Amino acid sequence: MKEYTQEINITDELMSHINEIISHYPEGKQKSALLPVLHIVQDAHDNWLSVGLMDKVAEILQITPIEVYEVATFYSMYNLKPVSKYMLEFCRTACCCIRGGEDLMDYTCNKLGIKPGEITPDGMFSVVGVECLGACGYGPMLQLGDFYHEHMTPEKIDVLIEDCKQQNIKLHA
Ligand code: FES
Repeated sequence: MKEYTQEINITDELMSHINEIISHYPEGKQKSALLPVLHIVQDAHDNWLSVGLMDKVAEILQITPIEVYEVATFYSMYNLKPVSKYMLEFCRTACCCIRGGEDLMDYTCNKLGIKPGEITPDGMFSVVGVECLGACGYGPMLQLGDFYHEHMTPEKIDVLIEDCKQQNIKLHA
């Protein structure tokens, strides 16, 4: 398996945010902060986690690297290799599929000229299928960054992609 490397940059600001999260848990239970810490560390590193970065998180939380790998490989919200700037995560579970989610994902792939899991040559877009995102009544839906885009249609996809190209879209809350 190819190993990807990235520059690890735990700034003072990031470290104080990590410590603030750790402080929410009882003394000696810093492992409980693992999920939120992985989120902010990933956000600060182009939205993905290399093995080296996961090892750094293990060191900070004083746990073993395998404890970090177990969590990071289980949840689809953690990316273990470089990702596109705009990752369109389509729900592919029943309610969204019934409402045309798979067709919409195909439409988006065709529009961008990529297959699910691929990244456009300019590094801007990727299309990923994920399991239920808990917005079943609003399908078909997708997640982009921290935000949900609901009741999606091909026309709304066109607008969303254009907004991304114009850098006119917010990724983080
Ligand atoms: S089935 Fe799509 S959000 Fe639940």
